[in-house]
Amino acid sequence: MRQKEIIILGIESSCDDTSAAILKNNTILSNLIARQDIHESYGGVVPELASRAHQQNIIPVVDAAIKKAGVLKSEIDAIAFTRGPGLMGSLVVGTSFSKAFAMAMNIPMIDVNHMIGHVLAHFIDEDGKAQPKFPFLCLTVSGGHTQIVLVEDHLKMKVIGTTIDDAAGEAFDKAAKMLGFPYPGGPLIDKHAKKGNPNKFEFSKSSILNYDYSFSGLKTSILYFLQKQVKLNENFISENLDDLCASIQNAIIDSLLKKLQKAANELKITEIAIAGGVSANSGLREALTKLSSEKKWNVYFPKFEYCTDNAAMIAITGKYMFEKGMFADQSIAATARYSMAEFNI
Ligand code: KG4
Ligand code: ZN
Repeated sequence: MRQKEIIILGIESSCDDTSAAILKNNTILSNLIARQDIHESYGGVVPELASRAHQQNIIPVVDAAIKKAGVLKSEIDAIAFTRGPGLMGSLVVGTSFSKAFAMAMNIPMIDVNHMIGHVLAHFIDEDGKAQPKFPFLCLTVSGGHTQIVLVEDHLKMKVIGTTIDDAAGEAFDKAAKMLGFPYPGGPLIDKHAKKGNPNKFEFSKSSILNYDYSFSGLKTSILYFLQKQVKLNENFISENLDDLCASIQNAIIDSLLKKLQKAANELKITEIAIAGGVSANSGLREALTKLSSEKKWNVYFPKFEYCTDNAAMIAITGKYMFEKGMFADQSIAATARYSMAEFNI
């Protein structure tokens, strides 16, 4: 007998992107994102503005995703949404929409942990793309999190290392702000770093124990260095922009890969993946590719559109939860802090 197809509508609204995706089994039929440019000029996401924009965008985005996928609303088997972690006002929009949609269509709803979504983006089917084999380590690096995750199965994973202060994306964005870039500056550092010398400037490195990270020392060292240099030459930043970007990026990547390497060595794991917004960084991809050929690791990168926040990763997580009957009821509430530990089954 042919297995029934599962069609999931995924919703992501944890930060400043409103996204809807349609997944059929493990294949994405549509994955649309309404970005909020309004935060650029504020130097960071303004929560009040984000939730208002989500409210404006969510219905048009969902409508367009369903149309693009070419499915009927009545064919959708379940709706999966980001319950947390994230900005409360943003999460509430996606959660409330999902409750109303589930009730109107009389279908189950599935509450997804955003960070698990980043990891499971690796299991979206794409022609010819290999998927990590269990157990694997996933370096999950985003604007809000930096984690080394030991993934034993689709819904069985544990965080073995995390940041004790800033996330890697935050380190990129804060350094970018010091250089005068708009928010989010991570991709701009990446762009300029390609033309610069990564060894031109040296910044302080953290010496945190275990598999944990810290980026606040690096941030302070960049700030003091720039303040000192700008006093001597007010054009220092513009005259050295590419080298500054390359050196800052190099310091962040170096720190990320050191701990990943330590974990892989100690746990004897050779399947390595990266996920989250910072996994789009070309320097990180290059350095990890080089390291993996030295270490004989199999390394996995998500497709670019599944690195930064997107609903496709929420839909694929929803599919694995659907298969296990992990449904939420109408009393579910969004949660700004949502530990992945609560998810292990
Ligand atoms: O996963 P994501 O879209 O949102 C969160 O869950 O936080 O990650 C956003 C973060 C931002 O800090 C952004 O600057 C960073 O990912 N980012 C990058 C690049 N693309 C996105 N950082 C460095 N290089 C990039 N190419
Ligand atoms: Zn994210």
